[in-house]
Amino acid sequence: MTVEIVRDDDPRCSELEAAGYRIVGESWGARLRDPDPALLEHAVLRAAGVTVRELDRGYAAQWHALEKANEKDYPYTPATHHVVPPVEELAEQWTTGRVFGALDGERLVGATVISLAGETGFTSVLDGYRGRGIGQAVKAASILALYADGVRVFGTGGAGLNEASIGANVALGYVIEERWRSYAPPIR
Ligand SMILES: CC(C)(COP(=O)(O)OP(=O)(O)OC[C@H]1O[C@@H](n2cnc3c(N)ncnc32)[C@H](O)[C@@H]1OP(=O)(O)O)[C@@H](O)C(=O)NCCC(=O)NCCS
Repeated sequence: MTVEIVRDDDPRCSELEAAGYRIVGESWGARLRDPDPALLEHAVLRAAGVTVRELDRGYAAQWHALEKANEKDYPYTPATHHVVPPVEELAEQWTTGRVFGALDGERLVGATVISLAGETGFTSVLDGYRGRGIGQAVKAASILALYADGVRVFGTGGAGLNEASIGANVALGYVIEERWRSYAPPIR
């Protein structure tokens, strides 16, 4: 089955719907332009009880374990499928981006990866630590680090159903600029 991923303002949406295609997922893209460093610093400091900092490759195994624990919680859409690769492959993220995490003592409880151009790859927080500002804190730390290097426009995205992810991004100043629909062909 070939799923077509189409932006919601594309005239092809009504053509596909008229042809009997069904929406099987929704996703979005958001941008943060000229971030507010004070707001981001506050977001980092607000995450009480954890240490937020950049992670080096020495954390590859712990990051992999965190992602494996959270894999089932990433909402599935055809446009935002998240499968955790083997640890060596996950570690390749350090060749194209930077990784930031939250530590409760020695334990890694949240992490995010961002490309050097400012595009977030994925973010996850361990169940039991969610809803306490940790997702925002690791993401804010990643933005501040790239901001210091001169990056001014940041991108992110996710599944239409992911209220926590949307909430965390909006709190940091991201604005949803695009919505996408995944269409599956009619069942004949
Ligand atoms: C998405 C995720 C990383 C968010 O991390 P988090 O630490 O729970 O997020 P935060 O506490 O920093 O922020 C969540 C915000 O969304 C709001 N929110 C709205 N609906 C929510 C919901 N259903 N659950 C949790 N928070 C919700 C919260 O109120 C909060 O905003 P506030 O601080 O302004 O009150 C985490 O839920 C997670 O790991 N999910 C599984 C993996 C995933 O889906 N990752 C995102 C795809 S890249």
